[in-house]
Amino acid sequence: MGSLYLRHNLSGHIKSLSEFPADTLPPVLAVFFAFRVMVGLGLLMLLFSVAANVQRWRGKLFNGRRLLWGLVWMSPSGFVAMLAGWCVTEWGRQPWTVYGLLRTAQSVSPLPLSWMIASVTGVLLVYILSFALGLRYLLRYINSPLPQEPEVVASMLKTSSSG
Ligand code: HEM
Repeated sequence: MGSLYLRHNLSGHIKSLSEFPADTLPPVLAVFFAFRVMVGLGLLMLLFSVAANVQRWRGKLFNGRRLLWGLVWMSPSGFVAMLAGWCVTEWGRQPWTVYGLLRTAQSVSPLPLSWMIASVTGVLLVYILSFALGLRYLLRYINSPLPQEPEVVASMLKTSSSG
């Protein structure tokens, strides 16, 4: 499978890590775990969406507390998986900025420290602002009434009348 994916044939050679000089390797352990966090969460998302659709199909989406609590706990999973994926690519490409051509150590900015601090602060402020606005929107959306699908409303009414 790896040969097919990376070399586009069935008998390609994929070098092992030990075949590379030690000073060209990324921090392998960190990449190993970040990748598994990302893929693990991706599979969990798939599992939860299949389970939720099965429950919806059976008309019981709003009756199972375990599934609903699981979905609540899964809320930050997209964000965490995205950060883990980002760690995979950023750690995984070390010590290179451009593989084989430019090392990270050589691509350090020549600008003065004060300029770097100012630009990082600017980026952080924009991100914090957009994150806060996004979170506010999400919380409002979660607190707003559910979309009015007839079978959903019927199933909720059934649940609340049966206590
Ligand atoms: C379900 C199984 C998943 C597999 C097999 C997978 C696979 C990969 C691989 C191979 C990379 C590295 C790509 C590269 O080297 O350029 C990657 C990067 C990444 N992944 Fe995943 N991923 C999965 C799930 C997810 C999920 C659920 C998220 C987020 C919700 C996610 C977000 C990311 C991000 C943000 C990157 C970095 C992209 C970049 O910086 O270019 N991944 N993923």
